[in-house]
Amino acid sequence: MNIQVYGSAARAGVAAAQVLAAQIIKDPFSVLGLATGSTPLPAYEALVELNKAGIIDFKTIRTFNLDEYVGISRTHEQSYHSFMHTHLFSKVNIDPQNTQLPYPSSDDPEEDCRAYDAAIDDAGGIDLQILGIGHNGHIAFNEPSDLFTYGTHIVELSKSTIEANKRFFDSADDVPQKAITMGIGTIMKAREIVLIATGQDKAQAVASMILGEIDPQCPASALLLHPQVTIFLDEDAASLLQ
Ligand code: GLP
Repeated sequence: MNIQVYGSAARAGVAAAQVLAAQIIKDPFSVLGLATGSTPLPAYEALVELNKAGIIDFKTIRTFNLDEYVGISRTHEQSYHSFMHTHLFSKVNIDPQNTQLPYPSSDDPEEDCRAYDAAIDDAGGIDLQILGIGHNGHIAFNEPSDLFTYGTHIVELSKSTIEANKRFFDSADDVPQKAITMGIGTIMKAREIVLIATGQDKAQAVASMILGEIDPQCPASALLLHPQVTIFLDEDAASLLQ
């Protein structure tokens, strides 16, 4: 695990974006795994700028997002579909047909989950996966649990996640209680992983991930077993690592 600490959240985001940009330049047919949340926004802004400057081209890039709420429509302003459209897809020259997010749209959600994993496999697997981290050590929507999850699945969101995400909704009661998410196994199959964590409120989760045991109660700790992970931190998020 390679750990890099930057002087600000913006600089950590730009550094992570440079890894994504290098992947896009190296392989114009790359498959990227994308994340939502406020943490990757500086990285997405940097990618938009690099695209505008003609340095990176999204024309043949394919993307799979980590997760989506269950119980709100794709067009809901807080859906992750809307988030990705607003912050990245509408601002770069990506083909909308090449962007996928999980969504349980049939009357067999388990089949929808299997189909999402199959679509990732059919695309050749994820070359580079970007991640944030939740306060309780969750990645995507894989909440602390007794076992690491494998494939894409439906989850009940924890109280702490609903509490953290209520800032985007009118109240905690309006936050969906379920989500569809890639499993830890899906994430671990990515050939390379970049995790960004910024802010003092992420310091404990970062310390548990890096300094603790590999434990499904801290889902991000599974990344200690991945051969190609880089963690981009600002000084606040790194503050408990000494
Ligand atoms: C949500 C997302 C995660 C994200 C986390 C942290 O739970 N499902 O992918 O990492 O929030 O979000 P933020 O970056 O806003 O702190």
